[in-house]
Amino acid sequence: AKLLVLHGPNLNLLGVREPDVYGRETLADINTRLAHLAQKAGHELAWYQSNAEHELIGRIHQARDEQIAFILINPGAFTHTSVALRDALAAVDIPFIELHMSNVHAREPFRHHSYLSDLAVGVIAGFGSDSYFLALQAAVSKLEPKPA
Ligand code: DQA
Repeated sequence: AKLLVLHGPNLNLLGVREPDVYGRETLADINTRLAHLAQKAGHELAWYQSNAEHELIGRIHQARDEQIAFILINPGAFTHTSVALRDALAAVDIPFIELHMSNVHAREPFRHHSYLSDLAVGVIAGFGSDSYFLALQAAVSKLEPKPA
């Protein structure tokens, strides 16, 4: 199946930005590793990063035309602000996992609320770049046919 990983604002700076919070791995490192693991599991993985809300929304709309089966999304700060991103995910009706590298619940109160979590299949937060790999593992497991 086809999977899409979406990275929201400022995640292009991974590896450089607040390494104490977000680690030293770059976005390119993470994407390469994800694509490799997805391929090993028999899937195809595309990725996209944008700092612009409308571009992320456009990419979500496009995912429906591409028959993307599952979305992994780190919405960055849009997690806490964007009704529009929520509406886009609801509109395309593609199952998604929300993920965060940091444990948002251990941070400032404004990071405790997400506009996406109640629509998500599940939420993963606090495992650094491993959050992406745990999310991929969960998505792959959801896509596997379960024995009757
Ligand atoms: C983040 C957490 C958000 O609160 C923050 O705005 C980010 C990154 C994370 O991966 O921990 O940009 O989504």
